[in-house]
Amino acid sequence: MRVGILTGGGDCPGLNAVIRAVVRKGENVYGHQLVGYRQGWRGVLDGDVIELTVGATRGLLPRGGTLLGTSRTNPLEREGGVAAVQATLARDRVDALVAIGGEDTLGVAAELGDHGVCSVGVPKTIDNDLSATDVTFGFHTAVQVATDAIDRLQTTAESHDRVMVVEVMGRQTGWLALWSGLAGGAHEILVPERPFDVDEVCDRLRHRHAGGASYSIVVVAEGAQLAGASLRVQAAGVDEFGHVRLGGIGSALGPEIEARTGYETRVTILGHVLRGGTPSAFDRILATRFGLAAIDAVHDQDFATMVALRGIDIVRVPVADAVRTLKTVPDALLEDAAVFFG
Ligand code: F6P
Repeated sequence: MRVGILTGGGDCPGLNAVIRAVVRKGENVYGHQLVGYRQGWRGVLDGDVIELTVGATRGLLPRGGTLLGTSRTNPLEREGGVAAVQATLARDRVDALVAIGGEDTLGVAAELGDHGVCSVGVPKTIDNDLSATDVTFGFHTAVQVATDAIDRLQTTAESHDRVMVVEVMGRQTGWLALWSGLAGGAHEILVPERPFDVDEVCDRLRHRHAGGASYSIVVVAEGAQLAGASLRVQAAGVDEFGHVRLGGIGSALGPEIEARTGYETRVTILGHVLRGGTPSAFDRILATRFGLAAIDAVHDQDFATMVALRGIDIVRVPVADAVRTLKTVPDALLEDAAVFFG
C-alpha cells in the first residue's frame, strides 16, 4: 500500500513521534510506502508531498513540532476542495491517509470518508478535549510546562506578596487549567465550563489573605468567561473552522482583581510556550503507541476509525463518534479543586 500522513491543527509535542512510529512499522513490518503531506490538509489540496522513509525519520522521537508542518486549512470550505483531495491522492497513488489532529482535522477526515477518502485518525491536542480517548498526546507535556511555570510563579509571588494570574490555553475546555492548577497548587482555577464572577473570585482571595496568606495564584483558561457578561477576550480573526483566536482574558482579569482587592497583581500568559519543545516520556510513549496502532488499522483496512487510549489499551473507535462531542471537565473535578480555594 501507499500511505499518506498529515498533521493538522495546532501543533503539539509528540506529532513527530507518531510520524516516526507509522513509518517505522509501515515500512519495516508491512512493507508499505509512506509519504507525508505538508501543512495538513493544505498539502493534500495543493499536492505538496514528500517521501517518508525510515532513514528520513530517524531521531524524531524527542523533537517537538512536526516534521510535516501544519495548518488549519479546511478542504471542505474550499471550492472544489473534495475533488482536489481526491485528485492528489489518485496522482500520488495513495490508498489511505493517517490523519493526525484534533476535532477539526479528524472531522474533515470523517466527512471525506463519505467521498471515498480512506483514513485512520490519531487524536492530538494539548486541550485534551476529544471525548473518545482517555487522553490525547501533547496534553501531558503541556500540563508539565504549565506546572513548572506555576511553581516558579509561586516563589516570586510569595517574595512580593502579589497575586499572579496565569493564563493557559484551553479554548473550550479547562483540562489544562485544572490539571496544571491542581499540580501547581493554584488558589483559583477558572475554566470555560463554569463561567465565573469576579467579585466571588475576589472574595475568596480576600478570605485566603485574611487567613494569613500573602500571595495567590489564579490559573485561568483562555476560554474562561465571566458569568452574565461576555468578557471572552479575543484577538481579531477567525480560522477556516470558524474558531476565533482567544487570548487575553488574563490581562483583563488581573487589573480587575487589583482594583477590587488592592492586592498588587501581575499577569503571565503562557500561550504557545505550552505547545513547544520536547514531549514528555508519557507523550512519547502514547504517541508511539498511537502511531503503531494507526498503521495496523490502515493495514487491516479498518478505515473511518480513530485510535484511542482506554485504560492502558489502544483501541479503535469510529472517527465520527470521536468528533461528535467535546470532553469537558466534569463538575466533580472542579469541586475537588475548589477545596483548595479561599
Ligand atoms: O490546538 C489547540 C490550541 O492550542 C488551543 O488551546 C488554542 O486556543 C489554539 O490552539 C491556538 O491556536 P493558534 O496556534 O492557531 O493560535
